Amino acid sequence: MAHLDAITQFREDHRDVRDGLLDIISALEAKDVPKAREVLGKLNNLVGPHFRFEEEALYPTLRVFLGEYVDELLKEHDGVIETARACAKLLEKDILTDVEAKEAARAARALLIHVSNCDGLAILSERLKKAQLDELGVRFESARKASVPLLDWADTIRKH
Ligand SMILES: [Fe+2]
Repeated sequence: MAHLDAITQFREDHRDVRDGLLDIISALEAKDVPKAREVLGKLNNLVGPHFRFEEEALYPTLRVFLGEYVDELLKEHDGVIETARACAKLLEKDILTDVEAKEAARAARALLIHVSNCDGLAILSERLKKAQLDELGVRFESARKASVPLLDWADTIRKH
């Protein structure tokens, strides 16, 4: 029985995250805090299993191609988690000042860059062996089943 196709699902997540971030940016520009908060909550749920899959399965596998550059990817995740945490904190407020809304939109744009960088890993992943890709599919599926949101995962399981 075939497991899910890791690369296809990986890229599908990136599209959803891209769209979510663009929605957050529009919501912030319209000063619609409840909308921005709602989308951020959805992204938190989506990105948790995605990051977990990347850090626990994809990145270690890509070390054959990337070597120590994988450590840079992990550092990039540190930055994303910090930004997401700051955004979540800011969006706890019901009303944002112009400066706060602008700052949050800027942070969301910084996350867009990460999405675009991360999607580039798909082109490297295509060079993995079939057995490795199959294993990645299994690992992606189990990260999704565990379904731990990003900020919860970062505060608990990820801490090392
Ligand atoms: Fe990614």
